[in-house]
Amino acid sequence: MKRNILITGGAGFIGSHVVRLFVKNYPEYNIFNMDKLTYAGNLANLTDIEEASNYHFLKEDICDYEKIRNIIAGNDIDGIIHLAAESHVDRSIKDPLVFAQTNVMGTLSLLQAAKETWNGNYDGKIFYHISTDEVYGTLDFDGTFFTEETAYDPHSPYSASKASSDHFVRAYHDTYGIPVIVTNCSNNYGPYQFPEKLIPLFINNIRHSRPLPVYGKGENVRDWLYVEDHARAIDLIFHKGKVGETYNIGGFNEWKNIDLIKVIIKTVDKLLGNPEGKSLSLITYVTDRAGHDLRYAIDSSKLKHELGWEPSLQFEEGIEKTVRWYLENQQWLDNVTSGEYEKYYEKMYKI
Ligand code: NAD
Ligand code: DAU
Repeated sequence: MKRNILITGGAGFIGSHVVRLFVKNYPEYNIFNMDKLTYAGNLANLTDIEEASNYHFLKEDICDYEKIRNIIAGNDIDGIIHLAAESHVDRSIKDPLVFAQTNVMGTLSLLQAAKETWNGNYDGKIFYHISTDEVYGTLDFDGTFFTEETAYDPHSPYSASKASSDHFVRAYHDTYGIPVIVTNCSNNYGPYQFPEKLIPLFINNIRHSRPLPVYGKGENVRDWLYVEDHARAIDLIFHKGKVGETYNIGGFNEWKNIDLIKVIIKTVDKLLGNPEGKSLSLITYVTDRAGHDLRYAIDSSKLKHELGWEPSLQFEEGIEKTVRWYLENQQWLDNVTSGEYEKYYEKMYKI
């Protein structure tokens, strides 16, 4: 079946994996990747599929309501997978306004444009919003999990903005009947993640023998999922998920930060041929992140039971694959940290 799908934020970390998967798996679809190309958006993440005849890139801001409306109407868009966002918690603490603008107002503009364009004809349409487990707040070390019924309790400006956007998405479903799905996922890791997030930042710092800043005592816990497993879940939910539903996505893979950091160090040292434990001395305990959530853990059993999804990769395999990718793609790391890629693609796409 022919479909015209708009993916927002497709030049970012998770978005690029989702775009790649859809372009490759569905040659009969038209895939429109709409991205503003902020510091986190990088078309070099998509060089392997940029020539595909079913792939179209649009450099646009999700806050630009009129443009989005024209894009949805002009391309007969019937599916929207919305990933574009400001995504880094530390940046949200320093500069919260842009998080409200992009994550709340941007999502609202998209919803309103979909509503106005689809104009009550919702047959075969879907607005799929990609969200985070951080909207649920924080857990204790008591073995409990976030479920789809857990009450929202966001603590950072980032998670507050994502919670707000989730509420708007559901409000458009309840008020106007827009067919929506929301998924809340745990921490992703893998290739093409901007090296401000823990795993790529630490790989990059070890490579340069720079300090590894561990917030607080390193005791906070995150639940890690390989990014391609998230992209597979998005594909499945987009096609088979029930309209109006929420699905949690997670790896049942909890790691205390300091333990994870030791695994990263061990893997990087091994692959660089360093003596075991060489980079442990780079660990530097620093002031804790303000409002730092203690523990995230996602119960994704609804997704498993209803749609049959499970993570495919064991963490040990995923982390080695990830470290290897960054070490084999050091130019990518250097480019995104220097900003060179922006100039290159500006020329290439005349933007
Ligand atoms: P990212 O920061 O790597 O990418 C975000 C992308 O959105 C970039 O390409 C950026 O250019 C684009 N963008 C930002 N503002 C825009 C705007 N105004 N208009 C158009 N495009 C804009 O983020 P990510 O880690 O890939 O996260 C993608 C989505 O998944 C986000 O909504 C995030 O909240 C959610 N999420 C992320 C994780 C994770 O671990 N990274 C986990 C769960 C959910
Ligand atoms: O849980 C899903 C969320 O995961 C996503 O919604 C966010 O977009 C994504 O950025 C991620 O948020 P976190 O804040 O959990 O990820 P980050 O990689 O920034 O940090 C992971 C943990 O490591 C967290 O407890 C803070 C800690 N940390 C992070 C950095 C960058 C450090 O100790 N030192 C650091 O330098």
